[in-house]
Amino acid sequence: MTLIEAAAMGTSPTRLDGPAKVTGTAPYAFEHQVDQPTYLHPVQATIARGRVSAMDVSAATRLDGAVAVLTVFDAPKLADTSDGELTILQDNDVHFRGQLIGAVIAETPEIARHAASLVEVTYQRQQAEVEFRGDRADLYAPEEVSSSFPTDTDVGDLDAALAAAEVTIDQTYITPIEHNNPLEPHACIAVWQEGDDGPRVTLYDSTQGVHTVRTTLAPLFGLEPHQLRVIAPHVGGGFGAKGAPHAHNVLALLAAQRSGGRPVKLALTRQQMFALVGYRTPTIQRIRLGADRNGKLTALAHDVIEQTSRIKEFAEQTAVSSRMMYRVPNRRTSHRLAALDVPVPFWMRAPGEAPGMFAAEVAMDELAVACAIDPIELRIRNEPDADPESGQPWSGRHLIECLRRGAAEFDWAARDPAPGVRRSGEWLIGTGVAASTYPATESPGNAARIEFTADHSYLVQIGAADIGTGTWTSLTQIAADALGCATDAIRLEIGDTDLPAASVAGGSSGITSWGTAIVTAARAFRDKHGIAPTPGADVTVESAENPDTDHFAMHSFGAQFAETWVNRDTGEIRVPRMLGVFSIGRAINPRMLRSQLIGGMTWGLSMALHEESVRDPRYGHVVTQDLATYHVSSHADIGTIEALWLDDPDPHTNPMGSRGAGEIGIVGAAAAITNAIHHATGTRPRTLPITPDHLL
Ligand code: MOS
Repeated sequence: MTLIEAAAMGTSPTRLDGPAKVTGTAPYAFEHQVDQPTYLHPVQATIARGRVSAMDVSAATRLDGAVAVLTVFDAPKLADTSDGELTILQDNDVHFRGQLIGAVIAETPEIARHAASLVEVTYQRQQAEVEFRGDRADLYAPEEVSSSFPTDTDVGDLDAALAAAEVTIDQTYITPIEHNNPLEPHACIAVWQEGDDGPRVTLYDSTQGVHTVRTTLAPLFGLEPHQLRVIAPHVGGGFGAKGAPHAHNVLALLAAQRSGGRPVKLALTRQQMFALVGYRTPTIQRIRLGADRNGKLTALAHDVIEQTSRIKEFAEQTAVSSRMMYRVPNRRTSHRLAALDVPVPFWMRAPGEAPGMFAAEVAMDELAVACAIDPIELRIRNEPDADPESGQPWSGRHLIECLRRGAAEFDWAARDPAPGVRRSGEWLIGTGVAASTYPATESPGNAARIEFTADHSYLVQIGAADIGTGTWTSLTQIAADALGCATDAIRLEIGDTDLPAASVAGGSSGITSWGTAIVTAARAFRDKHGIAPTPGADVTVESAENPDTDHFAMHSFGAQFAETWVNRDTGEIRVPRMLGVFSIGRAINPRMLRSQLIGGMTWGLSMALHEESVRDPRYGHVVTQDLATYHVSSHADIGTIEALWLDDPDPHTNPMGSRGAGEIGIVGAAAAITNAIHHATGTRPRTLPITPDHLL
């Protein structure tokens, strides 16, 4: 692949959208100016399973300022009811507590909320199954896990290798339900206008992909794609939870058909988000390792039990990274699901890798202790020279460099391998390491348009998303380098389905997918119009498939280091120091790259020590549904945190030489902290989050 020359890439301009954001002129979904808006407030089921037998809306309807009330008995019909999460208000079945069963449209959000509380619902209850346990008799194997990976793999003879191994580890690791909490809640404005040639619908949405929203929702409402326009120029955080439309979008569009043409505004409350926009599945992960005395792996089994919903299957790829991480001749991975009467799980930053690598990298630390080998050396001894799964060469695997660079920066050599040795007063001090990985993928279906305009700038258009990651800036840098001009000659437009098609900001694939489309269009533009184009010259080009994806295994790698202090008397855990060293290809904008990486690492700390959605065992709903009871790490939890990268352009992933960096920062971070806690205390936690009671 021919890489474009870096001029703007590798520099760190501040966010081009920054001034608009700090002056309040960058519109988020709820803030777009519309005429005569109405406001929507949902009615949610208060039982976990059963039927709605009646909904008395008389008090709600009588309220001054109420415009209309929707119920399961009278809502508009959907044209496609195949998606169990998105099909709402089409019948009176209740599948989980919190499910949308109605809504009130009103003149103000306060009236809508009050009126929704006045809707009286009568239910016929049924017995619900909401308990996630590893010994459920109804666990099943999904046909595949996302994204299209085999559910199980079995290579070599695992049982024989385990039986013959000189050292074995057999442990179970548990991770809880966690919820994405972007600062901007899920919000949208739906505008439904009936015209002579059918409806014209606009959805201002807080989403990671406008075209994904359109592709998913248009068929539900019997609309042709051109009849539904989705707009999202600025998004206040996504992390996966906004990677697809959820039922609240459907509710807003149903309501917009009942509001007399007036726009309908819906912003979910923090509490509603804990029921309606997905979550990280809980996992129970059994890991078995077999090795010789020198730590050379001979066997690895990673068997995962996770949760899904009865209304729609979501099968997370928890064990997939164990298939490619180390050289192990005999290995087995499996995923089993418990389908419960609960909301549908969905993506949350590094779905699969984040919980999977927590378990796998703690298990590697346990093996290092059992073999009395330094944990960095253990990983070096098991480094595969090609992808164990596909046999393909790596496009660029620099894990050992990351580990060595991190060891030097973190002064790993000074570490006493014995646990529980370092102390300072009542504090026990330890350090830990874990490896990190995330696949480098490109999503299909991207196109870009470039036009040379009368003011002698280049208009660059693609329906990409900036969910707070810096897309406005980094795509401008890429476009400038691709066209060989200055960044201030680029005028970028993103976040609108009226622009050329773009894939979702998900799976750390955004910059690869959109950047490739822009570079492809820039090259076509130069071929067609030369270096001195006339105003009006333009091209629209779809990106072709990258032929290198068939020949190389493309993944990013990293090494995570953490220092923990554990209070001998209270079990309190502090993390004064974290370091991550990553191989993520070329750094397009180092300032934003660092921000993504330390953001992910901070989340890893949060995952290790704080985050857990606690469910009511009777109804299956989350009771810790606010930021007072759902703990996320804050500034006070973070000491020194630094992310470094090797700056090693990848010649195979895309014409920029980059790999996605949005998700790898969280991967392995919780394991590094867990391993550091073991080193500090000699106690090995295996259940997240690690709260002080685990250590007393
Ligand atoms: Mo990422 S969790 O795939 O948006």
